[in-house]
Amino acid sequence: MIRQQSPNKLRIAVLVSGSGTNLQALLDRAATGKLAAEIVAVVSDRPEAYGLVRAERAGVPTHVVDYKAHLQREIEKPLELKLPVNLAELARRQKILKISDPEKLLQRLAKLVLAEHELIDVLDSYQPDYICLAGFMRLLSPYFLGHYNRGGQWRVVNIHPALLPAFPGAHGYEDTFGYGCKWGGITIHFADEGEDTGPIIAQAVYPIWPDDDQEKIRQRGLSLEYEMYTQCINWLAAGQVELCLTPSRRMGTRITDPDYQKVLTAWVDEVLA
Ligand code: GRF
Repeated sequence: MIRQQSPNKLRIAVLVSGSGTNLQALLDRAATGKLAAEIVAVVSDRPEAYGLVRAERAGVPTHVVDYKAHLQREIEKPLELKLPVNLAELARRQKILKISDPEKLLQRLAKLVLAEHELIDVLDSYQPDYICLAGFMRLLSPYFLGHYNRGGQWRVVNIHPALLPAFPGAHGYEDTFGYGCKWGGITIHFADEGEDTGPIIAQAVYPIWPDDDQEKIRQRGLSLEYEMYTQCINWLAAGQVELCLTPSRRMGTRITDPDYQKVLTAWVDEVLA
């Protein structure tokens, strides 16, 4: 069993694309000593992301890696010369881009890698223990993930607004509500090379009442997200997240916090109150 590293107070970098309410919850908890981590940097793929304003207000360094600009630019052939990876191998490994034309796939991957190369440069200058995705709406290639998930450590954490493996992708709340689910869920997991398929760290559910609309369930789910993200980071800091194989031989985790049941019960009580 491998225990995730736990330097007690972690250094985390948070990636955002939008409003950043999860980021705000983490900033607030860090400020009041409830988060066992220092938020060392906030990085966005979009200059207009409101999350950047939140970070600046809290005095946290911010950066923009302009993915749009990277993805729009023309790259001259041969593509490989400019890249820190073997593109053909990356194209064989990657599972996220659904582009059937091999030439177009290579072009797209090359641009993505250039954006990620800049992102890695920025992030590494802060020496983060974990990269926490909080509404970061970009696909991560095996190049980026391989840089951080090394030596048996998983270092990229994501929060997903559905009970995985149901409803992966960018519309967790809409998909849950649209399907007519009676309970919705939130999942916090390590990011792997698939779409929302990495080892699950924590999950929690919230009820969907007959008169709810999509916005109501999003708000209910978000309040749960804030509690869960904080708790998962605290578990990581305390060395209470162990990697293990699931019964179906997937990579999973085991939380060793003696209060684990109490924490989960409190989450359920909170959403039913
Ligand atoms: C959250 O619902 C999170 O689960 C998902 O993106 C949304 C981000 O919201 N990955 P916010 O920017 O934190 O308000």
